[in-house]
Amino acid sequence: MNLEAKDIQANWVQFLANIDAHITGERKQKLLDFYKKFEERVMLMPAAHKKEYHNAFPGGYVEHVNRVVRCALKQMDLWAEEGADMSTFTKEELVFSAINHDLGKMGSEEHESYIPQTDKWRKEKLGEDYMFNTKVPFASVPDRGLFLLQSHGIQYTFNEMLAIQTHDGLYDEANKKYLFAYMPEQKPRTSLPFILHQADLMAARIEFEREWLPKLKGEKNSLDGQKANFTLGNSTNQKSTTSTKNKALGSIKSEGLKNMLDNL
Ligand SMILES: [Fe+2]
Repeated sequence: MNLEAKDIQANWVQFLANIDAHITGERKQKLLDFYKKFEERVMLMPAAHKKEYHNAFPGGYVEHVNRVVRCALKQMDLWAEEGADMSTFTKEELVFSAINHDLGKMGSEEHESYIPQTDKWRKEKLGEDYMFNTKVPFASVPDRGLFLLQSHGIQYTFNEMLAIQTHDGLYDEANKKYLFAYMPEQKPRTSLPFILHQADLMAARIEFEREWLPKLKGEKNSLDGQKANFTLGNSTNQKSTTSTKNKALGSIKSEGLKNMLDNL
């Protein structure tokens, strides 16, 4: 799927509004400054580089993060209703963690993680619009996200560190040390990581369903023609991508994005 320019714009406004509404103290402005600095990159980022994952289209990252924030707030109410100890974390910690949980997907300060696919065969046959940028040294998404925050002087609490670090739950083996603990004293002292993980899982699942269930049911594009999985450069998306270029993406500086948009 593809987002129109007005959706990308509206999602970005909502993304900043979430910071404004929920983050307090000195770090609120620092966070707003950080996202202002990387506005162009973050606004247009996909949430993943492969169609098989979720929201692998321009603006997909922010759309995903906003959904995780919404789901996290709803999950929080559910956990409270069912008797979880809500005194162990704050709403601000939940929203801060949700907003920044996938920040590491951005890449390094200098280089984007996901750049337009240059391999014509992979783009046309596999529908891969993006590829990993090899200029970015490897780090896990949580580690890179936490590094970006600290390197811009944005403080996070112990709870937020734990939630961002473990947001993939047991899908990431590295989280076993936090989530597979047998001894009660080694288990997290707050439900925050579980609430964030549930919200992220829910959002990613919904985004998967939206992209793939119609295709699997044969309602939209046939799976036989991989070109049907094309997001970028699909002529059926010409109208929306043209308006995307004209509005939200008019002042793009990134060379990679410019090339990608020129091909839309
Ligand atoms: Fe996520």
